[in-house]
Amino acid sequence: MNAIEIRNLSKSFRGMYAVDNLNMTVPVGAIYGFIGENGSGKSTTEKLICGHLVPDGGEIKLFGRDYTDAGVRVRVGALIENTGCFPNSSVWDNLMMQAINLGLENRTEEINRVLEIVRMEDSAKIKFKSCSLGMKQRIGIAMALLGSPLLLILDEPINGLDTDGMRIMREILVDITQKYGCTVLISSHILGELEKIATHYGIIRQGKMICEISAKDMDSRAQVFVSLKTKDMNGAKSLLKAKYGAVKEEEGYLRVYDVDDTESIVEYLLQNGHVVSEIKKNKIGLEEYYIELMSKKEDE
Ligand SMILES: Nc1ncnc2c1ncn2[C@@H]1O[C@H](COP(=O)(O)OP(=O)(O)O)[C@@H](O)[C@H]1O
Ligand SMILES: [Mg+2]
Repeated sequence: MNAIEIRNLSKSFRGMYAVDNLNMTVPVGAIYGFIGENGSGKSTTEKLICGHLVPDGGEIKLFGRDYTDAGVRVRVGALIENTGCFPNSSVWDNLMMQAINLGLENRTEEINRVLEIVRMEDSAKIKFKSCSLGMKQRIGIAMALLGSPLLLILDEPINGLDTDGMRIMREILVDITQKYGCTVLISSHILGELEKIATHYGIIRQGKMICEISAKDMDSRAQVFVSLKTKDMNGAKSLLKAKYGAVKEEEGYLRVYDVDDTESIVEYLLQNGHVVSEIKKNKIGLEEYYIELMSKKEDE
């Protein structure tokens, strides 16, 4: 079953389409990286799923049911744009107000549960306004996790975080899916960060989904290459070209594409009088794949 299934979704603002016949499929249990440049329609799509905006047309299904179904709505948690927290209230009080709003019964237990998930058990008494950006984002996630949602929708939660903040966020998101069986839709333009956790990707451009791919397929499609340095780069380049075909000089290294056997390259060059001073295996990752995809579309 899919957690989210969207067909031909559209939303315009003053005659301009922010979301344009968009299709999206998010399997249950996925961490779905929703990727696109600023203004490509990520937040609008997420707001439509959350019912914060009314679509012009199209269909949104959550867990096989229409997205307006009350039974399914209560299982969706979201953090879009801001947390809605009161700055002068403590973390605990903010969570308590939200728990009351949601009509939760076991409020204390539930607040303790979500604080533990976002690793903030010891920060409950701090006023919201005194929290760091990373903490605020985690409180936003805690708010969204109240009531045990099956689907969590997060709009650029990694944006602006430092390296440590990003790492904690990644660990939390993996926990949410693996320990609690929640599906996560996470939008971002920081591709490298998503690459470490996403199980699926959707790439949006000008309101249209231009590519959906699983991390597994992305991995098998990713091109491998070996990069190396020698004294005589030009001589080595012609030799490598003759044997391996696709060779390019890039950022001071020779790149030999679709090969990952470094030993045979070193041996081959040595037999022909070239000593390799540096060599490593590489893979074209999500970032390069994305840039390639974007430039292809622009050429059309
Ligand atoms: N409430 C709104 N009124 C008018 N235009 C909007 C509104 N919300 C978004 N847009 C426009 O829709 C497009 C997509 O925006 P958005 O969904 O926020 O993109 P993203 O989240 O990918 O940066 C942009 O051109 C933006 O200016
Ligand atoms: Mg946005």
